[in-house]
Amino acid sequence: MNDGNRIPVLGFGTYAPEEVLKSQAKDATKLAIELGFRHIDSAQSYQNEVEVGQAIREMIAKGVVTREEIFYTGKLLPNKNSSEMVRLCLQESLKDLQLDYMDLFLIHFPVRLPPRDSFSPMDEAGKTMCLNTDLCAMWEVMEACKDAGLVKSIGVSNFNRRQLELILNKPGLKYKPVCNQVECHIYLNQSKLLEFCKSKDIVLVAYGVLGSTRDKAWIDQNSPVLLEDPVLLQIGKKYNKSPAQIALRHQLQRGIVALAKSFNAERIKQNLQIFDFHLVPEDMKIIDRLNRNMRYVCMKMCVDHPEYPFHDEY
Ligand SMILES: NC(=O)c1ccc[n+]([C@@H]2O[C@H](COP(=O)([O-])OP(=O)(O)OC[C@H]3O[C@@H](n4cnc5c(N)ncnc54)[C@H](OP(=O)(O)O)[C@@H]3O)[C@@H](O)[C@H]2O)c1
Repeated sequence: MNDGNRIPVLGFGTYAPEEVLKSQAKDATKLAIELGFRHIDSAQSYQNEVEVGQAIREMIAKGVVTREEIFYTGKLLPNKNSSEMVRLCLQESLKDLQLDYMDLFLIHFPVRLPPRDSFSPMDEAGKTMCLNTDLCAMWEVMEACKDAGLVKSIGVSNFNRRQLELILNKPGLKYKPVCNQVECHIYLNQSKLLEFCKSKDIVLVAYGVLGSTRDKAWIDQNSPVLLEDPVLLQIGKKYNKSPAQIALRHQLQRGIVALAKSFNAERIKQNLQIFDFHLVPEDMKIIDRLNRNMRYVCMKMCVDHPEYPFHDEY
């Protein structure tokens, strides 16, 4: 990454819909580490950092990995998007995780949502009222957290080009964001954002590569099921790989860091088996053509906020 630290190209996603027991996140993370995942992605908003932290620490205690071999990513709760809250939120997460530092801490979303524990204020149209968000002021505290040793690398998530430029052009910028974690998959290939990020030495980290968890609370249930795409199935047959493995491999070959969530033992194993084959350029092109600029995660409750990131082309 642009700060000299390294990020494993495949990460284990730990987000699960609310109805899933948090203990499953712990069991799955332990298994993922045992099977070979080294990059673990979570966030304060997933409400599983206690369990994910336990999993990491148990694997360290068992001698499966050392702390240095684990790359842990956490994210600032969007309800705490203010310069006063950044450091506090990071410290809360570290306390839940029982870790001394994070490898990567991200501004999760560029819009400040209302406080979680309060009655969510709604406007006359019934939309959640989002609050003023000063991304540059928040970034300065992110930089201070890195200097204080609470986190090794700092980055952003769900930022568009304008918002990345806002940080990059900030007077007195000390550290550039190392990455932008965004939704990215065969139906939303983010080619323009990827090109921009590469030109600025910012890593693009992809979520939703397998078509998201299709959480009823967030995702349109009529959206296409990515892993049932006939082209992925067909290419999978050619390489004797599953659609999920093809979808993950495709992102890696584009120079993207890919996240994959599974709480199922067989599928966790499967998602790691993507380093023993190579998609030929013609197949990469066929998959590239599946793009339809379709988002699973739209965050519609804040579409009217000035920092809503998804109105811009990229
Ligand atoms: N920054 C952000 O705003 C943001 C937003 C969303 C997600 N994320 C992060 O990115 C991670 C991944 O994204 P995601 O949660 O949207 O989900 P995803 O990785 O795109 O897809 C996960 C879904 O695919 C299934 N699956 C996994 N491996 C499979 C396989 N080999 N074959 C068939 N099905 C498979 C999983 O079910 P099973 O568990 O049953 O296998 C799960 O339902 C999250 O966990 C989270 O850490 C970040």
